[in-house]
Amino acid sequence: MGNTTHILRPGKRPVAPRNSTPPPRPTTPPVVLSSGSTLNCFAAVPRGAEELAATELVQLGITDAVAGKGGVTFNTDRSGLYQANLWLRTASRVLVQLTRFPCSSPPELYAGVFALPWHELITPAMTLAVDCSLRDSALTHSGFVALKTKDAVVDRIREACGSRPNVDTSFPDVRINVHLHKNVCTVSLDSSGDALDRRGYRLERNEAPLRETLAAAVIALTGWDGASPLADPMCGSGTIPVEAALRAAHIPPGFQREFGFQQWLDFDAPLWERICAEAQAGITTIPLGLITGYDLDSKALSLARRNSAKAGLEGQIHFFHGALQEFTPLGDSGVVILNPPYGIRLGEEDDLRELYCQIGDVLKKRCRGWTGYVLTGNLELAKYIGLKASRRYVLFNGAIECRLLKYELY
Ligand SMILES: C[S@@+](CC[C@H](N)C(=O)[O-])C[C@H]1O[C@@H](n2cnc3c(N)ncnc32)[C@H](O)[C@@H]1O
Repeated sequence: MGNTTHILRPGKRPVAPRNSTPPPRPTTPPVVLSSGSTLNCFAAVPRGAEELAATELVQLGITDAVAGKGGVTFNTDRSGLYQANLWLRTASRVLVQLTRFPCSSPPELYAGVFALPWHELITPAMTLAVDCSLRDSALTHSGFVALKTKDAVVDRIREACGSRPNVDTSFPDVRINVHLHKNVCTVSLDSSGDALDRRGYRLERNEAPLRETLAAAVIALTGWDGASPLADPMCGSGTIPVEAALRAAHIPPGFQREFGFQQWLDFDAPLWERICAEAQAGITTIPLGLITGYDLDSKALSLARRNSAKAGLEGQIHFFHGALQEFTPLGDSGVVILNPPYGIRLGEEDDLRELYCQIGDVLKKRCRGWTGYVLTGNLELAKYIGLKASRRYVLFNGAIECRLLKYELY
């Protein structure tokens, strides 16, 4: 059985699989998000970046972060949860687990979800949405699981309050996440709301923008510490320079946006304001010339400039219009990162072979003393670079498996 993911949409009512097993009670009692309680969290992370996200959590003072496939589990308090959302650069969302129970049938699902005191978390005046993912389980229809979960939640609230909340899939007050794996159901609240890669600085999408979380993962993998120059000769809408600059200037990636937990009934506004004020106090400006972006496409460059201004970095990143073939990095050493088109979403493979040869030439002849990185989803094209990679990292750009190739350019 494969993976399926579903976001509950009103209007479609899938047919329930038949099952007559009596519903068991959940194996763990529900956790109410009271102040001071330990929150059992899971940071969902694009594959390949799990260890990076765990390191980020440790840097935030969360010492029990354990990286696994697709995410990191950790325990924290309310302050740690807010900080994780604000500061995590490589994670896509942070879930707070409410309960886990064995679940192979619709009645088991309904009973396990209904057992939670939902009326303590959601009032009838609030709206909700249910996200669902399934793997290797008896229940195989994610739409049905999402719907059944929603039914149990609203029934419990109606029983306690006399009326029920509505579903809003676009802008819900509370996002519930239900995950079934090997017939064990985990029900969580999504503390992030919108995915964390939506930083709030991207104004429009150009043809093939890199996801912000992936750009942050690439920068982390290069080990760039903000002390030496960083150049992106094919910067497109500027995701790599902007993510590098946010990091160097100590700007939290989530500084421009709101989070799901801000709608929760237990939201601690003074605590959140303190955390934001501390972050604000730590922001610095970065030296001019530290980060540069170049591109052949002037429209993409103008978008890069506008994105960087929206990110609070106006004038701090140098963007130049120019072809890779003329690129020479400023300085004797530093990190050069290229994310060339790779034929899957942009351009044609035949035309790209020459471009990859030129990337190899530019790295070899013009970037001596620098460390080069190429992120591509096309290993065949990567061979045309003609240099031996000293390291290869596997990362995912959405569903596309990519390689980040490292070149030592002596
Ligand atoms: C995959 S996109 C980069 C996306 C970028 N990382 C972002 O997040 O928006 C590749 C970029 O390479 C640029 N490009 C293609 N050929 C080029 C060349 N010969 N010199 C400079 N830039 C080039 C394209 O204009 C495009 O913006």
